[in-house]
Amino acid sequence: MNQPLAMKTHTTEVIDQAKHVLLQNYKQQPIVLARGEGSYLWDTDGRRYLDLIAGIATCALGHCHPGVIEAVKKQLDTLWHVSNVFYSEPQIQLAARLTQASGLPGARAFFCNSGAEANEALIKLARRYQHVVKGNAERSEVITFVGGFHGRTLATVTATAQPKYQAGFEPLPGGFKYAPMGDLEAVKQLVGPTTAAILVEPIQGEGGVKPAPAGFLRALRELCDQHGLLLMIDEVQTGIGRTGKPFAFQHDGIVPDAFSLAKSLGNGLPIGAMVCTDEAGKALPAATHGSTFGGNLVACAAAIATWDIATSAATMAETTAKGEHLRTLALAMKARHPTRIVDVRGKGMLFGIELDTGAADVLARCRAQGLLANLAGEKTIRFAPSYLVTREQLGEGLAIFEASL
Ligand SMILES: Cc1ncc(COP(=O)(O)O)c(C=O)c1O
Repeated sequence: MNQPLAMKTHTTEVIDQAKHVLLQNYKQQPIVLARGEGSYLWDTDGRRYLDLIAGIATCALGHCHPGVIEAVKKQLDTLWHVSNVFYSEPQIQLAARLTQASGLPGARAFFCNSGAEANEALIKLARRYQHVVKGNAERSEVITFVGGFHGRTLATVTATAQPKYQAGFEPLPGGFKYAPMGDLEAVKQLVGPTTAAILVEPIQGEGGVKPAPAGFLRALRELCDQHGLLLMIDEVQTGIGRTGKPFAFQHDGIVPDAFSLAKSLGNGLPIGAMVCTDEAGKALPAATHGSTFGGNLVACAAAIATWDIATSAATMAETTAKGEHLRTLALAMKARHPTRIVDVRGKGMLFGIELDTGAADVLARCRAQGLLANLAGEKTIRFAPSYLVTREQLGEGLAIFEASL
């Protein structure tokens, strides 16, 4: 729109070079992002964007939050990284926060670098828990849900019950069974002598922002208790206050045996975590699992600063209220476009608007008008803004979205 010609040439050159030097494994949008502050991003042409996707649910406090910058800079000046064969205080302070808030009996935390790794830890935990702690060598299967997403490693892509993520990577590792989301009877049919655990997202994020039906997580908890299975929750996208509680399973009043975190945990710095009960944690004693960079001190410092703001009572109350505000705006828009908008779903700062068709075109028009969101599934546009986004910014974003329909 208003780009100076010389700068535009620079952007084109950068994109051309990217096409030669980067693996072409992402569908990248034709902008080069250069700078961020709060809920805004600027590209190399100097254009400003309202960012209502925030790194896909990572920058919980927005871009370059001053409190996180301060904590990271302090840690950078002190100590960057030590091996996990030594203790370090930022890791322990972060673990204390996560475990205390989780409500899991005797909770313990393991740190890694991403959501896929956190889910790998869950899968390994489930197998060794059944094999070694419980002495059930035949129990190795994890039940997951159609439309879910758990990561891109071989085990987590196999846990991800969506053929499009698995195609061409065969042979996939064994040990997974898939149930339709929300179908308790189907899950019961799958449970047998080889089942070790159930792994579920409270809201299927990548699958289209689809919340688990009311009461479903509780029913899974009861099923796991009846059969001696671990209930494992993937909180990679929903955790760290995004839905208005520290962890989304807390809306259902249940306590899982273990759960995974990543995305918002470091406000954009790479860090993941697996939190489990003391009992389940017996499965992974010294030398059974690990990660060189897991619990990196700079990432932990960012995560502590993020946690303290993102899960404060004041922020979570605002996250909840702004989520309701977003729902009200989206429902009013649906009333104006009853056939174009099929559904509005989500909780807190994780929200999806499902269209009848053509979501990719709408997204491109949003971008041209200075709004960033993304696709979850084929027809759902996902919003996962910073928890500190203002009501005015949400209103502005939805107005651009409506004009783009
Ligand atoms: C629910 C869920 N689990 C796991 C992952 C994988 O996380 P990562 O990309 O950090 O490996 C994602 C990423 O989108 C996710 O949404």
